[in-house]
Amino acid sequence: MSRKIVVTSALPYANGPIHIGHLVEYLQTDSWVSFQKTCGNQCFYFCADDTHGTPIMIKARQEGVKPEELVTRIAAEHLDDLTAFGVAFDNFHSTHSDENEELVSHIYLALRERGHIYTKTIEQAYDEQENMFLPDRFVKGTCPRCKSPDQYGDACEVCGATYSTNDLIEPTSVLSDTPPVWRDSEHYFFKLSEFGDQLRTWMRDAKLHQNITSKLEEWFEAGLQDWDISRDAPYFGFRIPDTQDKYFYVWLDAPVGYLASFLQYCRQHGEPDFDAYWNADSEFEVYHFIGKDIVYFHTLFWPAVLAGAGMRTPTSVFAHGFLTINGKKMSKSRGTFINARTFRDNLDPSLLRYYYAAKLGSGMDDLDLNLDDFIARVNSDLVGKLVNIASRCAGFISKRFAGRLAAELDDEP
Ligand code: 2FM
Ligand code: ZN
Repeated sequence: MSRKIVVTSALPYANGPIHIGHLVEYLQTDSWVSFQKTCGNQCFYFCADDTHGTPIMIKARQEGVKPEELVTRIAAEHLDDLTAFGVAFDNFHSTHSDENEELVSHIYLALRERGHIYTKTIEQAYDEQENMFLPDRFVKGTCPRCKSPDQYGDACEVCGATYSTNDLIEPTSVLSDTPPVWRDSEHYFFKLSEFGDQLRTWMRDAKLHQNITSKLEEWFEAGLQDWDISRDAPYFGFRIPDTQDKYFYVWLDAPVGYLASFLQYCRQHGEPDFDAYWNADSEFEVYHFIGKDIVYFHTLFWPAVLAGAGMRTPTSVFAHGFLTINGKKMSKSRGTFINARTFRDNLDPSLLRYYYAAKLGSGMDDLDLNLDDFIARVNSDLVGKLVNIASRCAGFISKRFAGRLAAELDDEP
C-alpha cells in the first residue's frame, strides 16, 4: 500500500535572495520527494515564505515600502529561483496569509485553554528615538568577556560567549546609534519546561539522526526553558488574540506556515483532508528538512507546541550541515557568496543539483563545494558518463530504430 507523506523544507526568510547555501536544503528535499513519488507513494511537498519579524519591518521601512509589498516581491523571487533549480513544491505559500493567521490563533488558543501559556513582565532594551523595543540583534556593544567591540546583544562572534543584552559594555541601538534604555514589558510565555518527558518519547519514536539526538540530550540535561512567544508593537506579524499591542514572535508562526501551505492546498484542491493529517492520532507521515542551525526550533519548540495544542507531532526531522566553498564559509569578500540568480545566469542549475545530490548524506556534516571537484565531477560523471550514454544511444536509435523509442514502438498495432 502506498504511503501518505507530507514533506517540508525550512521556509526562506523574506529579507533577501536565495543563495546556493539555501539550495542545499531545497535540492536535498526535492530529491527525496521525487524519490518517494517515483516509488508510487503519495507525497506532498509544502513550503512558504517566512515573512514576519523586525528585520523585515526595518528593511521595508528603509526601502520606503509597506512590509506586505516587500514580502510579496521577495516571495515571488524566491519561488522563481527555486523553480529554476527544479524544486517542485506542491504548494508554496506565505506566513503572511489568512490560513496562517487562522492556524496560529487556533494553536495559541488551544495552548492557552490547556494551561500552557502564562504572562510575565521582563526588562528589555528600548530605543527612545525609534520608540520601539529592540531585539538582541539590534543592539551592539563590547563583549563583556573578551572585550571585542561591535558584538551583538546575545552572543560574541569572537569568543563565542552568550549573554543577555544588558551585559554588553556600552550598548548601542543599531537603528538610531543611541544607547538603549531598559523598560518593562509584559510578555507571553509557552511552558516548554513541562514537555521534557513528551519530547524524550518523541525523540525516540522519531528515530532522529544521532547528531540530533546528541544535541537534544545536551539540551535536556541543561533543562528546558519556557519560551517567550510575544513581541511588542511595532512588529510585523499577527496580533495575539485578546491583546492590543502584542504580536506573535516570528518563530511561533513560521513553522505553522508549513500547515498553512498545506491548508491552502487542501482548500484549493478539495483534498486531502487537513484534519486527517494533523489530528493527534494521524497515521500519515510528516517530515521536516532543515539546517543544523534551527534544530532547537524544530525538535523542541515545534513538537511541544503541536502536542500542547492537541495535534500530531512530526514523524521525524532531517538536518543537514552548512555549505562551504573550497573549504571556507561563503564570503562576499572572497567572491564566493553566490546567489541562485547568479548561478543560473551563468550555469545550468541541474549541475548543482547533481553535485549536491552526489555529496549529501543523512548527517549534519557541512557540504563542501570545491570548485575544482565540481568541474571534475561534471566533466567525468555528467559529460563523460551520462551524456556519453545518451549520445551512443542516439546513434543506434537513429540508425537501427528510425529515431523512435520503445514507448512509440509499443503503440504500434
Ligand atoms: O532560519 C530561517 O531562515 C527561517 N526562516 C526558517 C523557518 S523554518 C520554519 F520554521 F518556518
Ligand atoms: Zn567575546
